[in-house]
Amino acid sequence: MQTGLVHLHNILRWVILILLLVSIGKSYSGWKNKKVFTPGDRKTWLFTLIFSHLTLLLGLMQVLFGRFGIFTSSLPEGTSVMKDKFYRFFWIEHPTAMILAIVFITLGYGMAKKSVADEVKYRKAFTYFMIALVLIIVAIPWPFREIVGRPLFPGM
Ligand code: HEM
Repeated sequence: MQTGLVHLHNILRWVILILLLVSIGKSYSGWKNKKVFTPGDRKTWLFTLIFSHLTLLLGLMQVLFGRFGIFTSSLPEGTSVMKDKFYRFFWIEHPTAMILAIVFITLGYGMAKKSVADEVKYRKAFTYFMIALVLIIVAIPWPFREIVGRPLFPGM
């Protein structure tokens, strides 16, 4: 069960990255080409929101009750969380950056519901989604990262 949840959290990263890239593409082209906001755009942004919130939920479960969770594991003797690269990443850096990214995704989706000109919707959503993308890319435990690196796909 625990392993399955980590695997799901791992895979959802790709779903979010793809949806986020599509959302960015749509908002950029809508903004630059002065398009009319469509239900299709709203749907893409909504799916990005839903999958990021699902990943947030799974992440919260991991950080609290997972195999390296705050309540289910303990720091190595004599270290503090800020001095241990592994725990600092998974307890502080990764959750903080990802929660921030999800706040920006939520703000981006929020533009779909704002009664402002379509050009403003697209422009602001584009900015929010770009910030979210950068945060996510920076905070993912890519395999090449020392100590915290994880596989690109579960079980690899
Ligand atoms: C867009 C949001 C997020 C993405 C793309 C993401 C991505 C990932 C990836 C790829 C892993 C490695 C999984 C593996 O070992 O196979 C991971 C692990 C982890 N994530 Fe996230 N994450 C996100 C949000 C969060 C949040 C919000 C939290 C906590 C509040 C969190 C907590 C964790 C923890 C604790 C682990 C380590 C789990 C373990 O090895 O037992 N993640 N995350």
